[in-house]
Amino acid sequence: MPIMPWSDMLSVGVASIDQQHRILVGILNELGDSMEAGIGTWDESVAMTRLVDYTESHFAFEEALMRRVGYADLDAHEQEHRLLFQQVADLMARSTSGERLGTQALLVFLRDWLTSHIMGTDRALGLSLNRVGMR
Ligand SMILES: [Fe+2]
Repeated sequence: MPIMPWSDMLSVGVASIDQQHRILVGILNELGDSMEAGIGTWDESVAMTRLVDYTESHFAFEEALMRRVGYADLDAHEQEHRLLFQQVADLMARSTSGERLGTQALLVFLRDWLTSHIMGTDRALGLSLNRVGMR
């Protein structure tokens, strides 16, 4: 059972963003599967590295889009993106310095963050992009 099954509730109404979110959710589920199978620790896992890299490029995509349309809530949205990276970097630093952090706690943190960000902040962006004709 994937940790975050995709559902249409996660759609923000803009195809390019939805497609990237599906990929992100897919990588998160892969990370969940590999942790469940007991393949190494999350802070050294290939899926975790891919998740961080893909998240970085996805955030850059959204931020460029927001700039292009002069999105009013750009600063707050970017701030949320930055905060996630700080939180993940902090978790990784704590883990590499020897603290034992449960993989389940990390997966739940990422799933909950992604769900609330997509359904709140990104949904608002999607609506605004719809208003300028983007689907
Ligand atoms: Fe976002």
